[in-house]
Amino acid sequence: MNVHDTEYMASLLEKAGYVQTRFPQEADIYLINTCAVRQKAEEKVYSLLGRLKFLKRKRPNLIIGVGGCVAQKEAERIMAKMPHVDLVFGTHQIYRLLEFIEKIREKKERICCIDFNYELEPPCDLFPIPRESSVRAYITIMQGCNNFCTYCIVPYVRGREVSRKSEQILAEAQRLIDRGVKEIILLGQNVNSYGQDRTDEISFPELLRRLDKLPGLKRLRFITSHPKDISPELIQAFGELETLCEQIHLPVQSGSDRILKRMGRKYTRSDYLRKIEALRKVCPNIAITTDLIVGFPGETDADFRQTLSLLEEVQFDAIFAFKYSDRPPAKAVSFPDKIDEKTKAERLTEVLNLQKPITEKKNKAKEGKILEVLLDTHSKRNPDQVAGRTRCNRIVNVQAGLEFIGKLVEVKTKEALPHSLRGEVVKVLG
Ligand code: 5AD
Ligand code: SF4
Repeated sequence: MNVHDTEYMASLLEKAGYVQTRFPQEADIYLINTCAVRQKAEEKVYSLLGRLKFLKRKRPNLIIGVGGCVAQKEAERIMAKMPHVDLVFGTHQIYRLLEFIEKIREKKERICCIDFNYELEPPCDLFPIPRESSVRAYITIMQGCNNFCTYCIVPYVRGREVSRKSEQILAEAQRLIDRGVKEIILLGQNVNSYGQDRTDEISFPELLRRLDKLPGLKRLRFITSHPKDISPELIQAFGELETLCEQIHLPVQSGSDRILKRMGRKYTRSDYLRKIEALRKVCPNIAITTDLIVGFPGETDADFRQTLSLLEEVQFDAIFAFKYSDRPPAKAVSFPDKIDEKTKAERLTEVLNLQKPITEKKNKAKEGKILEVLLDTHSKRNPDQVAGRTRCNRIVNVQAGLEFIGKLVEVKTKEALPHSLRGEVVKVLG
């Protein structure tokens, strides 16, 4: 979502004639889009802002702006303590970026705007042309979250759930497809509750169905789903919709019912396992990934073992695991029995060590298979290779020229590496 918001900012600036510089030292405007979901991300923002003081000293006309979730959360502090920052704009104010910059240039005054705006629907033509790759594009279908999981800052910095109109989403998808996009990734904090905040909207599975019918679309994905809201209808969609890729990110957070309850997740371990089972029944090859938090306040060794046993039971394709950090004003900040840093670090290592061979085994199972790959970039390491993703979202590198970028191909996989596959193109599909 952050990457997409950044692209949106960049496209607004490009439309107004600005160009991206290669080095920060060359810039007239320096924008930082920020993430506040974990403490570490926020610390990085402060350390970067600290360093920028020196750049500003050298170049007093440089405009420095901070947007996104840390801006939303820390506006007052940034404005008070960091006079070298000219602009602080919140998560609902991105669309006004140019207006802010013009005002700063004209009036030479600082601006801080973090109002929530629930009516806002940015005009469709402002939405960005995907810059990174022309075949894969993101579409934000909703903003905000109403769940208030006790560890999470998102509802406070992104506001309540607001769904965009399906008409707009479909029109935007069509425009992207007309420009050559083959894969669309729908974005939202909790996409499963799409449409539920308005009376005039279709459900999320229905939105998927309508997108699936758009001629020219090859692949559809979405992030992120809340396990409690995965409906039987959505599960069914994985068996029915041709473009819907065999992949889902389903954050479980913990394997212990006691901790899930304290997290306010509103499902139990067995609810979660049942949904996994149902997904695999409809779509046996589905790749399932998850997020986990270790060291949530009050997490005992027995609770933590429950998380480990869940990993063994589910056999996720990959996991993203994090040490719990306090995110005021989230509720868990005031929970007793905080876990010490050392235990959190040990638990994180244990979780990652348990998962590593599972991820490798799952990757290895793809060796020698013919897989559909959408090639969308040059390889990071080898200039004579291009890379793309399978429908199950694995990265594949192939020996091929740049003319293959943008093509949907079949690849015979030769070798599984820990985080990617290597193979050769056997057929070009389009
Ligand atoms: N501490 C640690 N991890 C967190 N996440 C969200 N809030 C916190 C927190 N306070 C993790 C969750 C979420 C992912 C995006 O970040 O696992 O799914
Ligand atoms: Fe945060 Fe929970 Fe909302 Fe996800 S569902 S964004 S974890 S409050």
